[in-house]
Amino acid sequence: MIDVQHVRKVFQTPDGEVVALNDISLTIPTGAMVALMGPSGSGKTTLLNIIGAMDVPTSGTVTLDAVRVDTMHADERAVFRKRIGFVFQRFALIATASAYENMEFALRIAGVDRAQWHTRILRALDILDMNDHAHHRPAELSGGQQQRIAVARAMCIEPSILIVDEPTANLDSQRGAAVLSLFRNYAANGTTIVMSTHDPTSEKYATSICRLRAGAIEAYTTAPSVNR
Ligand SMILES: Nc1ncnc2c1ncn2[C@@H]1O[C@H](COP(=O)(O)OP(=O)(O)OP(=O)(O)O)[C@@H](O)[C@H]1O
Ligand SMILES: [Mg+2]
Repeated sequence: MIDVQHVRKVFQTPDGEVVALNDISLTIPTGAMVALMGPSGSGKTTLLNIIGAMDVPTSGTVTLDAVRVDTMHADERAVFRKRIGFVFQRFALIATASAYENMEFALRIAGVDRAQWHTRILRALDILDMNDHAHHRPAELSGGQQQRIAVARAMCIEPSILIVDEPTANLDSQRGAAVLSLFRNYAANGTTIVMSTHDPTSEKYATSICRLRAGAIEAYTTAPSVNR
């Protein structure tokens, strides 16, 4: 379960303070798939970074799987993050490494037993239909292919929480729907998923929609598609 209470995030910039999040409270049950929607600059990435324990709020609390992460030191948070999978808005693939090596790196960081790496990598590549590109480096892949490798990399660590920033931005509608449906299956099996999206198709797959506007929650609704 993810529990965020009264989270505020203020960035200091040369032009003064930017209030990116203002009094955000939301609870996301285990196995939910929440779509964060809202205009550019509304705070989606900032909130994902805080929910994923990448960043800490200026004030407020963040509790993940019953553990307070906002009060942790950076190194404790880094250890905690082993259970969290990330798909970043700009993929953050290692440019000099192949798709396969990018996944090996994620498995090493997550502390997964090396004996399992090969099987897990091949399974994730297969699910994302990227088997033929295992030994390509990111520059040798299209944007959509890089996105699918970023998804496969997050999936292969079998995270309890999956944070995804714009999962379908570079995918055609069919591939986008396939990725969303994949996420929904993972959620049904107990992975809690929070994703930001501009893609209205996501509403069909998410169990809840959280609409942000100017750093505040405008609406938090359970999707009509939820039947469980
Ligand atoms: N590191 C930072 N330093 C200063 N301001 C920041 C920083 N990160 C985000 N912001 C500001 O916080 C606000 C929210 O940004 P955020 O990236 O969370 O938006 P977003 O909803 O993800 O937008 P997009 O849909 O374009 O990805 C914006 O005004 C942005 O300029
Ligand atoms: Mg963003």
